[in-house]
Amino acid sequence: MRLRHSGILLGLLVATFLAPAECFWPWHTTSTTPPPPPPPSEPKISPVIFVPGDGGSQLNARLNKTNSPYFVCEKTHDWYNLWLDLEQLVIPMVYCWIDNVKLYYDKATRTTHNTPGVETNIPGWGDPEVVEWIDPTRNSAGAYFKDIANVLVDLGYVRKMNIHGAPYDFRKAPNENKQFFIDLKQLVEDTYEANNQSAVTFISHSMGSPMTLIFLQEQTLAWKNKYVRRQISLAGAWAGSFKAVKVFAMGDDLDSFALSAKILKAEQITHPSTAWLLPSPLFWKPSEVLATTPTRNYTMAQLKEFFNDIDYMTGWEMRKDTLRYSKNFNPPDVELHCLYGDGIDTVERLQYKKSAIADETPKLIMGLGDGTVNQRSLRACQYWSGYSSAPVSTLALQGVDHMKILSNGDVLKYVRTVMQQP
Ligand SMILES: *[C@@H]1O[C@H](CO)[C@@H](O)[C@H](O)[C@H]1NC(C)=O
Ligand SMILES: *[C@@H]1O[C@H](CO)[C@@H](O)[C@H](O)[C@H]1NC(C)=O
Ligand SMILES: *[C@@H]1O[C@H](CO)[C@@H](O)[C@H](O)[C@H]1NC(C)=O
Repeated sequence: MRLRHSGILLGLLVATFLAPAECFWPWHTTSTTPPPPPPPSEPKISPVIFVPGDGGSQLNARLNKTNSPYFVCEKTHDWYNLWLDLEQLVIPMVYCWIDNVKLYYDKATRTTHNTPGVETNIPGWGDPEVVEWIDPTRNSAGAYFKDIANVLVDLGYVRKMNIHGAPYDFRKAPNENKQFFIDLKQLVEDTYEANNQSAVTFISHSMGSPMTLIFLQEQTLAWKNKYVRRQISLAGAWAGSFKAVKVFAMGDDLDSFALSAKILKAEQITHPSTAWLLPSPLFWKPSEVLATTPTRNYTMAQLKEFFNDIDYMTGWEMRKDTLRYSKNFNPPDVELHCLYGDGIDTVERLQYKKSAIADETPKLIMGLGDGTVNQRSLRACQYWSGYSSAPVSTLALQGVDHMKILSNGDVLKYVRTVMQQP
């Protein structure tokens, strides 16, 4: 979750307002009479709901286990913060942590569950605090939506009144988050009523953007017109990311901790959300090469063989469970502001030295993106501008990485400007 040091902010490069009719520009008014006095009632402000990405919610756990992987690991513990407390991510405690946070896939029910004796819950439904800070001790490494929330507070917003958070179990894919979508609809309606019937704005990040998309696809146009003012998407992983392939193959060091990707892999590959975030077949051609070896290549169409050869067919099963979400690319049909970073090295292929790929750590071949999500997935929102009645605005920010977009000055300014429109 930590912000990386790499991205030098080069500022705005492209600003494409694909819907000039929904204008922000005051010079459209061509009146010769003096303007009327401001309306007596307070202008309505659109309440905000934050929808976080992968790893962007807190996760609490309670332990009553009969087994533990190491003698240092506690078997019983009352509710405590499991994600994300950096102190648990050191050796050897990280092995206890992995055993408590990993999931097990049941091929018969097509669902996942925790390690026996581990209970988990997602605290703070509706509260922005839990998505402003992932680490409840407010370790600065766990800062998430807090800068954007502070911009809103500057505009007169009040936390828990018209700023809310919609956390969820990010380990799981949409098929196992059905209750989240039901709860989100209720939160939208309650927030609308509690704020003088003002339609809400979703502000989403990364995996939170396709989560919001799936939610909106399931609502009627009439419902959306009434309850939803707009979505502001930051670094949306609309069409997945090659990084998910990398995670299955070799894990990920989360960019931050003094931990090897190999250790974390044991936990990360058990998440169905990682399988959902595999490259979308709508944006990756069947013939595209995902991995090379001296004797053969693995193309997008051969993903199943790839999972077989890295000896993790569970990943393929989870892919099958979630593919229907990747294949539905109907527009959200609400005003969409699609902001993303670009121009940063982002993994797009794996290169193996040997033909037996299961035990090798491959070399990463880089393409463009925001360091985490590939360019084509970040830009996928542009596709809707021709297919949606609602306006789509896109803004690419050169050199702004996947996490830094949440605190980038130009992004904060953009959010401020948009949120001042009633
Ligand atoms: C813990 O699990 C054991 C059975 O394995 C059960 O007897 C006990 O009541 C449980 N304790 C709590 C606090 O739930
Ligand atoms: C709703 O509108 C009323 C009357 O205009 C105003 O007094 C009240 O403060 C408003 N409430 C909210 C939550 O905006
Ligand atoms: C594998 O893919 C690379 C990159 O597309 C290509 O240059 C190479 O010829 C392919 N090798 C085989 C064995 O198909």
